[in-house]
Amino acid sequence: MNSNYVRIFDTTLRDGEQSPGASLTSAEKLEIARQLSKLGVDIIEAGFPAASPDDLEGVKQIAVEVGNPIEPNARVPIIAGLARANKNDIEKCWDAVKHARHPRIHTFLATSDIHLKYKLKMSREQVVERVREMVSYAKTFCDDVEFSPEDAGRSDPEYLLEVLEVAIQAGATTLNIPDTVGYTTPQEFGALIKGLIENTPGADKVIWSVHCHDDLGLATANTLAGVSNGARQVEVTMNGIGERAGNTSLEEVVMAMHTRPALFGLQHGIDTTQISRTSRMVSNFTGIPVQPNKAIVGANAFAHEAGIHQDGMLKNNMTYEIMKPETVGVNASRLVLGKHSGRHALKARFVELGYNLSDDELDQAFARFKELADKKKVITDADLEALVSDEIASLNELFSLDGMQVACGTMGMPTATVRLKDPEGKQHTIAAIGTGPVDATYKAIDAIVNCPNTLLEFNIHAVTEGIDALGQVTVRIQGKDIQPRMDVQRETERTRTFGGYGADTDIIVASAKAYLAALNKLLIATQAQENAMGSEVALMA
Ligand code: KIV
Ligand code: ZN
Repeated sequence: MNSNYVRIFDTTLRDGEQSPGASLTSAEKLEIARQLSKLGVDIIEAGFPAASPDDLEGVKQIAVEVGNPIEPNARVPIIAGLARANKNDIEKCWDAVKHARHPRIHTFLATSDIHLKYKLKMSREQVVERVREMVSYAKTFCDDVEFSPEDAGRSDPEYLLEVLEVAIQAGATTLNIPDTVGYTTPQEFGALIKGLIENTPGADKVIWSVHCHDDLGLATANTLAGVSNGARQVEVTMNGIGERAGNTSLEEVVMAMHTRPALFGLQHGIDTTQISRTSRMVSNFTGIPVQPNKAIVGANAFAHEAGIHQDGMLKNNMTYEIMKPETVGVNASRLVLGKHSGRHALKARFVELGYNLSDDELDQAFARFKELADKKKVITDADLEALVSDEIASLNELFSLDGMQVACGTMGMPTATVRLKDPEGKQHTIAAIGTGPVDATYKAIDAIVNCPNTLLEFNIHAVTEGIDALGQVTVRIQGKDIQPRMDVQRETERTRTFGGYGADTDIIVASAKAYLAALNKLLIATQAQENAMGSEVALMA
């Protein structure tokens, strides 16, 4: 491989999924993994298999499907899983990733004194020995082994050299340097990478990688400092999602290298026209909205409102624009289909967009497309994506929306009548009043589903321009009875919140769908929790 090629390691489904509220269903994870592959990422970190049986299953499914594309000339991404430096995690990781044509085990152990003392309660010597043993153990399963010294940004560089040398001797093929708490600055981080590459014995045998967090807003700058100093893999997430302030944004790093080729002189394998679409998918499925002024993928990233800018743009768009919106897939949406388009045309467009729907799924999508085409003259790619996202979001449904009617305005109390189907297919209809139409709808849904929760976030926006646009709603809720989840990487507990997505030309219907999607995820998690407690009681009896 060309020595200036930078591998894009996407960790949206692992580190990104650790964002508060980013709980994804396995269908959503699979769909995101397919899209990441289409985007052209080199490595997909699909999850943390030892975290739970569900996590293992999710990674395995991605390894089986996305790690073995059937198209003859398709690029085959490496499918990686994360594992703590212990035998159980490494075995579980291998169980999940071994199904991919190119599997990778990514194992990590902290190296900063603060982690050694308070988290691991291990000496420096013990850590070195554990790295030797566990990298060698991972190597007995898989040729491709990545090692990360967690909290490298705050570790003693001399000690890091010792640990990394041992990792290379034990067979690591990629060494990833994480700034776990987003503490370093670009100058410092760049110098750290340079020093490690120059001074670790055997450095030329491995790929050097960087993994930055955004606590000081420096993740992209630090990552770019890393590649400027010899790193040839970047660990990133779509939209920069991740716990606390998030991880490095894939789109920012890729577009910086892409827009400034003379400065960086680096290549990558990303199809930049897929960036915008991937960003929308990740935002819809995680329920985490993208801030309007977010670089590259924010709604205002290419909007030029000030009069002076518009005047400049009309004269020559290079006056205020350093990238073309089409380069990242914005405005690439074609006016594709209309009222008279048939099932074949719809199927063909879905295939072009990268969705391989089964006959049943296509039937459902076609019915929804016809419904939408009756309300909206032209249907764009963004509309079709919103429909598919909505269908995928409803795949794991326990309760589904069967009908609803709302009365609101300035006269009388807003009232919603909602009809839901329960998991047995039985219908339930309830009317409720509220402070507004959404409140009334949510109260009616609550009265049927009976799953106590707090609504933490509600966001609404239009998919396309125009008065007849589809409305997209994302919500995030926190269950009252759900226990925190153990974060196996941090060895701390994490409050669990659940996101939901809905799309419809009627924004109250979209709001109901989004809330139901989040409630269904919460119900599934509550059931899993009850089952786990039940089996513990059975074991104790
Ligand atoms: O931030 C971090 O240190 C990580 C490692 C597991 C790579 O996510
Ligand atoms: Zn991380």
